[in-house]
Amino acid sequence: MAPSTARTPAPSPDRLGSPGSGVLVTGGGSGIGRATALALAEVGRPVAVWDIDAEGAEETATICRRDHGVVAEWAVVDVADTAAIEKAVPEAADALGSLGGFVHAAGRSGPMPVDFVDDELWDATLNVNLRGAVMISRMLLEPFRQAGPGSAAVLISSVEGLFGSAFLTAYCASKGGVLGVMRSIAQRFASEGFRVNAVCPGAVDTPMLQPAFELPGFRAQLEERTPLQRVSTPDEVARPIRFLLSDEASFITGTHLTVDGGMTSVTAI
Ligand SMILES: NC(=O)c1ccc[n+]([C@@H]2O[C@H](COP(=O)([O-])OP(=O)(O)OC[C@H]3O[C@@H](n4cnc5c(N)ncnc54)[C@H](O)[C@@H]3O)[C@@H](O)[C@H]2O)c1
Repeated sequence: MAPSTARTPAPSPDRLGSPGSGVLVTGGGSGIGRATALALAEVGRPVAVWDIDAEGAEETATICRRDHGVVAEWAVVDVADTAAIEKAVPEAADALGSLGGFVHAAGRSGPMPVDFVDDELWDATLNVNLRGAVMISRMLLEPFRQAGPGSAAVLISSVEGLFGSAFLTAYCASKGGVLGVMRSIAQRFASEGFRVNAVCPGAVDTPMLQPAFELPGFRAQLEERTPLQRVSTPDEVARPIRFLLSDEASFITGTHLTVDGGMTSVTAI
């Protein structure tokens, strides 16, 4: 199918170039996923919030509806469960009226050095962070075609996808893998005019990092290693994701945007 250049209705200026189609946000019950759903709702995009945490997902959808008046649905969907994904993607498209955006924010960290990694930890980490992104993406071409031009996806990787941490073997594998599959999916989707990118956050103040923040000196060490001398808020990652999903990023595909306060720009010298 040839990419079309037509779009109705035209995006209004106060929507920051955002199409009107709905967006599926996995991991939308907390942290970066929640902030992303809210940022998208702010520019009028309907959202489908998926999470294994029902309470968190429902709360996000409720805030989106209450504060921004958009259609906002939520569902308990385990992104490691391919059968559940196959059932839930068409349901999300129906509920939102169109599905022209996808953000894979569902994630788990699984801190463990290589000498302690076992099959269970490896599979659990890879299945959520990496396989889930692929199994959802493979369901999206048809809804994206129906939603029309401007359809796009953003997968959340990490600075750990670019560099290595001794304590995050499976996590690093999953996040490096996200960058690999992002480039591959981007090629396939580009043939139909759709874009796929990734973001690589540094340290973000979300529940995922809370156990680490409780270690003495950990937060101070992170801040010291970050040129902007602080960790980011979830919203500071959500807004770049919203940009990548918008027509403002119409010629950006197959790449990643590092959102790390400069952390990866520093040499060891
Ligand atoms: N917080 C950071 O410093 C940081 C840095 C770089 C990348 N990231 C990535 O950003 C993404 C969002 O993480 P966050 O920091 O907002 O963490 P978070 O823990 O606040 O949110 C993650 C969400 O994913 C959900 N989730 C976990 N397993 C799931 C599954 N199987 N199916 C569906 N949902 C599931 C959780 O319930 C949770 O609501 C993750 O991919 C994470 O790896 C986070």
